[in-house]
This record gives sequence, C-alpha cells and structure tokens, in this order.
Amino acid sequence: MAKRITEAEIARQYDFMDEAAAINADLAAGGRRRAFIRTFGCQQNEADSEILAGMVSRMGYDLCDGVAGADLVLINTCAVREHAESRALSLTGRVKAEKKKNPDLIIGLCGCMVTQSHISEDIKKKFTYVDILFGTSELWRFPEILLERLKTGERVIEPGIGSRGIVAEGLPQIRADKYRVWINVMYGCNNFCSYCVVPYVRGRERSRLREDVLRELEEAVKAGARDITLLGQNVNSYGRGLYDDYGFADLLRDAAKIEGDFKLRFMTSHPKDLTPALIAELGSNPKLARALHLPLQSGSDRILKRMNRGYTRDTYLSLVKAVREVVPDIALTTDIIVGFPGETEEDFSETLDILRLARFDNIYSFIYSKRRGTKAADMPQIPYPVKSERYTRLTDLQAEIELEFNRGFEGKILEVLVEGKSKTDDTRLTGRTDRGKAVHFEGPDCIIGSTAHVRIVRSETYALYGELIPSD
Ligand code: 5AD
Ligand code: SF4
Repeated sequence: MAKRITEAEIARQYDFMDEAAAINADLAAGGRRRAFIRTFGCQQNEADSEILAGMVSRMGYDLCDGVAGADLVLINTCAVREHAESRALSLTGRVKAEKKKNPDLIIGLCGCMVTQSHISEDIKKKFTYVDILFGTSELWRFPEILLERLKTGERVIEPGIGSRGIVAEGLPQIRADKYRVWINVMYGCNNFCSYCVVPYVRGRERSRLREDVLRELEEAVKAGARDITLLGQNVNSYGRGLYDDYGFADLLRDAAKIEGDFKLRFMTSHPKDLTPALIAELGSNPKLARALHLPLQSGSDRILKRMNRGYTRDTYLSLVKAVREVVPDIALTTDIIVGFPGETEEDFSETLDILRLARFDNIYSFIYSKRRGTKAADMPQIPYPVKSERYTRLTDLQAEIELEFNRGFEGKILEVLVEGKSKTDDTRLTGRTDRGKAVHFEGPDCIIGSTAHVRIVRSETYALYGELIPSD
C-alpha cells in the first residue's frame, strides 16, 4: 500500500532545511557551502537527484560539478547491474581521498543500491568514512538526516525498507534541464521479472494523484519545458489501486489539454500492459511524441517465460504491428538482455531475428547481471565470455540496422528541438527530433530552446548532420 506523506510531515522537513541552512551559513561565515551530487542509473534516479538538488540548495549549498572543494558529496546509486554498483563504490573510494584534505566533508550514499540490506550492512562496517546513508524510501527525509549529521557529527544510517511505498509531494526540486524534463507518475513495480532487483529496492506500485501530476506538468510547461517524459517503472499501471476507472490513457488525455508548445513521452511501458486504449491514444493525442519505448528483453519464448515477462514473441510482434498501424513512423526503442541464465545459441538467435523484424530505432542492450535475492540468481549462469560475445553480435547487428535507417533521412528536412551546443564541437548546435534522433548543425545560439528545421546532409550510426533552414 502507498504511504502518502502528509503536508505536516513535509512542512517539518522544510523546517529542518531552514535549520540546516542556518548552521551552514554559520560554518560558511555568511557565504554558501558547496555540494556535489553524482547520479547513477535510470531517469527515475535522475528525477530523485533533482529533488536532492532542490533540498541541498535550500539547506545552504551551491551545487558544484566535481568532488574537489565540495563540503557535501551525495552519490545516488543504482542497483540494476553489478557494473553500476562497482562504479558507485569506486567513486566513493575516490571521495575518501578528498576527505583527507577536508575532514569536514560529508559523504552521503543513497538510492537503490543502498536500499539492499546486504549492501548497507557492508557499507556500515567497511566504509566507515561514509557519513550518511539513506535508501529510496527515506529520500523525502533527507533534510532530517543531514541536519542530524550536522548537529551531532554522528553517522546516520537509514537504509529504509525497499518495499515501503512512499509518495511524497511538495519537496523542492532543481531540474537539470529546462527544456527536457522528467515527471513521475508512479513509483515502484509489481512485476517481479526474475532478473530484476527493482521491486525490492523501489517497492510496490503506487501512483501519484492525478491533480499533483497535472499541476507539476502545467508548472513545468510554464517554466519552459518543451519535451516532457512521464516516468514510472510501469506507466501503464498508472492509477491502479487509486482510481476505479482512470488510467494512464486518461492521464495522457488530460495532460494534452494543458496549453503550450510541448511534447509528451512516457517510459517505461510493459508490453503485457500496453492496452488498446493506450495504442489508440498514441494515434490521436496531439501532444504525444511519435515515440515508444517497449522493452522486449528477449526474442525467445522459452527465455521470456523464465524471465516471467508475461508475453510471447508473437504477442510482442503483434503489439509492434498494432502500434505501427496507428503511427506508421513511430520511433520504437527497446531494452534487450543477453546471456540470461539458460539462454542457448538458439534462444539468442531468436532475439537477433526480432531485431531484424521489428527494426528498432535504437536498443538499450545489457549483459545479464546476477542480482542477489532475485529468482534468476539461483538459475545456472552463462559464462561471461559467452555473454560478452553475444553482446557484441547484438550491438553490431543493431548498428547496421541503425545506419541503414539513418541513411533514409539524408536529403530530408526534419523538425528538431534545439537543445544547446554540441558536446563534442562547440561550433555546432545539437537538437533532437521527436523520434529522439540527435541532429548536429551550425546555427546561432539564439535558437536554443526553439524548434528549427534542418536538412539532413550526412548520417552516421548514432547521429545525423545537417544544415539549418532559415525560418523566414
Ligand atoms: N541484468 C542486466 N540487465 C538488467 N536490466 C534489469 N535488470 C537487469 C539485470 N539483472 C535491464 C532491463 C531493463 C533495463 C532498465 O535494465 O533490460 O529493462
Ligand atoms: Fe533506476 Fe532501477 Fe537503477 Fe534504481 S535500480 S536507479 S530504479 S535502473
């Protein structure tokens, strides 16, 4: 069940923030202290870090973009794969060195990884220089946790309970990007795919009230948001357990009534819950970007069953067909796991086969990573070299498909939302089409944040290059 944090409880957190700000102002002799937040993992974690940023700012810290010189370092961790966990721990080790220079530095770990009890126990014992630790269910109490540390100088370890389904509204937030924003609609997951740790670290499914989502959306649009992703581990379950007959398709319809020039996307949709109503909405809702992320995970029925996904390759392909009937040029993206326990060469070739049939715009591919406490962790594992070799074959095939795909854009004029200067070449601007393709082109800075038309002259596997078409 969802536990909705009351306004009074949130107000108390604001008091803690003000008290912490006063302490920090003293310590900084009237100036501001500095905080660095590093985020691992998915958009859900990015969204949480935006709330952390809002809270630390209110507590008297300016955000900085590195560990050097920081008074507070927060590492928001991910547990979905071992690789993300090792990266977070290695960063934690590097921050320790910084603490030698500045003994007052507060080091905090939070997020999915530390919500697992075996990890939080380990950190408690072996990473004694970590000052505060709090799990996903305690994020809203971060002001209280940090204040306690500031006042007592003691370690505060609150891993929380992964299954505790918290919904907290009204916390401060600083968005990382003005134009592309995330808005949560629901949290947690009830699906228990056999490989996945998310239900254990993010708790059961619960939805935000529709008025809270719509209000946040309206405010974001007023503040200039142009590309809005509605977030949830399984957005298609929006409203379950909260409303009798109001679901995600209804929320999208209400969201589209908000005035302004913006596009809506959503992620993640579970194929087993992609309803005809939602597919119809994709075709009729004027605010929806022509894009859908629909995680497949494997093309083999045998593996899908072992993964507990609740659909077959044929149902998946018929969903793709239905979606493309409604929106023929929809940008379809997916997630694939290779090397799931028991995956044979034949199973894997069925995944490759689906890539050829469905022709995704883009895939997010992962080597299966064994997660403690999940069902798949007890199944016979595949040796790493086999997994890694399959991974290369998968990404090579997709690169071929994408290049072919991108070639098809050459000579065409595409509409892009100009996001800013190109990260690799500052003489160029970068924009994104509503299919999510990155487009690089030369143009004046004053068009950043607006929509531009660009003629594509060259394509590569992962990007398009073009010339700006003057607007008048
Ligand atoms: N190993 C590898 N990939 C995983 N994912 C989730 N759990 C694991 C795991 N144990 C992938 C899935 C999911 C994406 C967010 O991460 O493809 O859709
Ligand atoms: Fe996101 Fe899942 Fe990683 Fe948590 S474990 S940060 S929910 S991908």
